[in-house]
Parts: sequence; structure tokens; C-alpha cells
Amino acid sequence: MNTEQLVSTFVEYFEERGHQRIVGSTLLPPPGDTVLFTTSGMHPLTPYLEGRPHPLGRRLVNVQRCLRTTDLEEIGDATHLTVFEMLGTWSLGDYEGPLSLDRGYGLLTEGLGVDRSLLHATVYAGDSQCERDTASLQLWQERGVPVEFTVEDNWWSNGAVGPCGPDSEIFLWNGEGPPRSTPTRDERWVEVWNHVMMRHRRLDDGSLVPLPQRNIDTGLGLERLAALLQGKSSVFEGDLFDPWRRLLPPLWHLDEPSLRLVCDHLRSAVVVLGDGVRPANTGRGYVLRRLVRRVLTVLWRENPSYGLDDFPDDLVGHTLAHFRQDMPPADVRRLLLDEQRRFRLLMERGRQVLDRPRFRGPLSEEDFHYLHDTHGLPRDLITSLRRG
Ligand code: ALA
Repeated sequence: MNTEQLVSTFVEYFEERGHQRIVGSTLLPPPGDTVLFTTSGMHPLTPYLEGRPHPLGRRLVNVQRCLRTTDLEEIGDATHLTVFEMLGTWSLGDYEGPLSLDRGYGLLTEGLGVDRSLLHATVYAGDSQCERDTASLQLWQERGVPVEFTVEDNWWSNGAVGPCGPDSEIFLWNGEGPPRSTPTRDERWVEVWNHVMMRHRRLDDGSLVPLPQRNIDTGLGLERLAALLQGKSSVFEGDLFDPWRRLLPPLWHLDEPSLRLVCDHLRSAVVVLGDGVRPANTGRGYVLRRLVRRVLTVLWRENPSYGLDDFPDDLVGHTLAHFRQDMPPADVRRLLLDEQRRFRLLMERGRQVLDRPRFRGPLSEEDFHYLHDTHGLPRDLITSLRRG
């Protein structure tokens, strides 16, 4: 099953069960929102989770592109991507957690043919502020799915304050041979689908109050599940990355971790550009800048003659088409090449500055601050220039 088929199977399954499809928003949260990027499918729906009636009703389904900078250091492992898509379902004060979990179980096992013996669930263990989630436990016991209890890992919030609640996560075994151990003890258990019982609001003082309605917010990692269903051990081997794996290795000879980073960051940079962000020294533009610079650092470390001039138009076009973005590929390319030019100049200047006797020995925190504030040299760049 390819990624497109997985999306349509998911959406149709929930449409048949009374959910209306809503259009996912861009990576940019609405004005006034404090986060830089949309990090989860629920994000654009916050007002409706807080009680405003949604024009399409109480049951919704969608595909939402998300960007998580918290995962930047994990890029290159089997399951994380900077920009990824989340398949989401919502009950806005309509049905409760056990029904949501049962539907999740039904879609995975019957709709998508996942072997039920490869599933594991985690459930909120409870603490002094919120009781143990016995309803989810009971559902999983009835379905014969093993359960592990946790506290922190089974509590979901979008930030320090706002809507939040206990969750139950569904994991799929991705190891050789029969499943072993539990999700928190063995990372061959891959989290694919989180069901949040979003019925609390966290206030500034840390206390919890009930939301006006009891919601369900679920999110399923599309690329992750697609790769697992395709029998692949990493997201980078799923069908979405086929063109990347075909076109990049002949251009740039990179080891697997570097290739993964380059694919992830370039694909993310294209999507972020397609959503209207431009490179800058702060905010969203800085995230974009970091993505491009990390790619260039990897490429130039491997071979100084590599560069984005060779980045294939087909990959830009493929990415923009997948995310239904209408920016002309030539504009994306021009912005990437401008950024490359700027970074090359910065590197040259950086080399000259770091050549000064003052910076030849170990660098103090004060040196790093000075190099950043006076010469615009970020810490990771300094480190890599000194290594090179
Ligand atoms: N909002 C939940 C998540 O992102 C579903 O995991």
C-alpha cells in the first residue's frame, strides 16, 4: 500500500463513520499563536477543542503537515522526520476514548491488515492530578492487546498551558521475530497512533480545569505507518522517498546517515519555502536557514564541490506537488541558491576570523558569544569549521 492509498483508506474509514474531512492548514499557525510552526493536527483546531462549534460538526478527519524542531537532532534514525504528515481524527464533545481506540484497532487490523499480535498499547497510569485511565485499559484488555502504564509518556499537551489530557498510544512491533518487551523498554516498538482524551485545560499556575466538552484528538504518523506497512525498517525507505533515493546518490556520495539528513532537511526546506517562509536570522526563517545550512555543511564536508546547484528540479516539483503547494519550483531553487551563496560567504569570513591567534586554542563561552554577535557565526558552524 503506498502513502496515497493509506491516506484514502484512513479518510474513507472515518468518513464512513460520520467524520467530515477538513482541509489541513499550512505549517504556519494562525496570527497571534505563540508557536512557530504547526506541530500537530490539533493545533489549528484549538478553538473548537475549547468549545467553539465547528461548522462541519463534531466528528472530523484530516491530513495535516507538521514540523517539529524538537526532533532535529533525531533526524537520521528510522522514525523521525522534520516535516511529516499526521492523519488526525477528532470527536468534539461527541464520543469517548474507548470508541476511538476501538476504531483505531479496527482500522489497523481489518482495514490495513496489521497482524494483531504485533500491537502494544500504553495507557495513562494516573497521578495526584488526574486518575488512571481505566476505560482505555479495559478496551485493550477486551481486544487482547498488551498494555504498559506510564505517566509522562501518556499525557499530551500542546504547550505549558491550554488543552491537554491523558492519552493511549498504539505501537507496532518492527523487530525481527516475535514481539518482546514493552514500548518503553525496547525501541523496536514504534509508536504509530496517539489517542488523546483531551478534556482538561492547564492553567498558568499548573492546575487543571475541565474543558467545556470532552474531546478526542488522535494523530497517526503517516510516513511511519506507510513504511511499516511496506515492510521497510525506516521512513526513508518508504515510497515517498523513492525519487530521493533514485536521484541523489548518483550526484552526492554520502553515507546512509548523511543521505537521510540531506533528504529530510531539503524536503522540509522546500515545504517551508512553499508555505511562504523566507530565510532569516530569527523565528521561522531561522529554522529554514538552519535546515539549509546543515545540508550544506554535510555536503561540503564530504566534498567541497557538492552544492545545491545540482539539486534536481524533479525533487522540488515532487515535494511541492505532494503538499499541494503552488509556488513555482524555479522560485524555490532561486531562494535555495541565494541561501547557499550567503552561507558560502559566511564560511569564508568565518575561516578568516577563526584563523586569528585569539581563536586558535580552546574557545570559551565568551568567545562563542563574541563570534556570534560580532561576526554572525553560529556555534555549530564554528565547531564544524574548526573540525574541518
Ligand atoms: N495531538 C496528539 C499528538 O500529536 C494526537 O500526538
